[in-house]
Amino acid sequence: STIDWDVVGAEIGDHAHFLAKEIQEQPRTIERALKGRIDERFATAHLGGLNMSVREAREFRRVKILGCGSACYAGELGAQLIEDLARVPASAEPASEFRYRNPVVEPDTLYVAVSQSGETIDTLAAVQELQRKGGRVIGIVNVVGSTIARQVDGGIYLHAGPEMSVAATKSFTSTVAAFALLALHLGRIRDLAPEQGRRIIAGLNALPAQIGQILEQSDAIAEVAKEVAKSHSVMFVGRRRGWPVAREGAQKLKEISYVHAEAYPSAELKHGPLALISPEMPTVAVVPDDDLLDKNTSTLSEIKARKGPVIAVAHRELPSDLADRTIVVPRAEPELDPILLSIPLQVLAYHAAVALDRDVDKPRNLAKSVTVE
Ligand code: G6P
Repeated sequence: STIDWDVVGAEIGDHAHFLAKEIQEQPRTIERALKGRIDERFATAHLGGLNMSVREAREFRRVKILGCGSACYAGELGAQLIEDLARVPASAEPASEFRYRNPVVEPDTLYVAVSQSGETIDTLAAVQELQRKGGRVIGIVNVVGSTIARQVDGGIYLHAGPEMSVAATKSFTSTVAAFALLALHLGRIRDLAPEQGRRIIAGLNALPAQIGQILEQSDAIAEVAKEVAKSHSVMFVGRRRGWPVAREGAQKLKEISYVHAEAYPSAELKHGPLALISPEMPTVAVVPDDDLLDKNTSTLSEIKARKGPVIAVAHRELPSDLADRTIVVPRAEPELDPILLSIPLQVLAYHAAVALDRDVDKPRNLAKSVTVE
């Protein structure tokens, strides 16, 4: 396929950092992940690169997703998408953990290796171990012709263009979009009804414009980031789909701003980390307006009762007894909400890093791809 180098190329253009450019590119990169893959007539996705017949794709009874860093967090969202839309049990695990524990490899499991670069050594080694034991592995990879892309039995390319900044941004959201397509495909050859498929397709098609709306709030998010940058430590919480979003948000903040951050599932707060909550420790809470909203607001009340400042990422402004600041994002279809909810957290981390004058594109101690053990 062709790459639109003008828009999603390796040039920094007018941006202060590659990271800013890559965050801004996301309306286009999501479009490119979807392009040519949506089948409106049968309400499904076409993924020619999978190299898998319909019969083979129906036979899998489990999906196991492997990756490192942000690729693994995107995989956690992918697992939820596959369970939601295809009703196939799915889970994600760091590739490094998987490869070193003599994993049980099953013939009726579909293995998915996720890697932006296609060169991460632990992910590659996991793929090789799987294939040695007869496992079937597909890749979700950005760099065309990379080592993992060549090693796998089939896959989905992100077509997100070069990602130059060490911290993953556009590759994260594109990976989740690719998982949505895979989940739609697997769902529609199983029991996902056509109208449900159409609902997901409409939700996917709406994403680029919605991402644009979020990015228009960058200046307001930058103001919040200045406050975050003054903290020694920040708690991130989320539930269900918000939990991997919280993990990725914490990862972004610590890797580029060097502000310590931790992520917890909201309901786990009271099993330990609630002891840390104080006026000095802000919490970033992922609070979509879904069927778990009441559960999430009770978590916020617990935090406010300990005088912890709360920054909420939500679908509408929250009252001041629940949150000090709300970043409002547009509502997607619930399964796709994580793509939109994760974008303000990228913008937040970016502006915190800028406020602290960090080396945004090349954070200390980190490499874009970890190719040695
Ligand atoms: C490095 C990068 C991360 C990335 C991870 C996996 O640690 O700094 O941003 O998520 O590798 O990289 P991959 O290319 O396999 O997605």
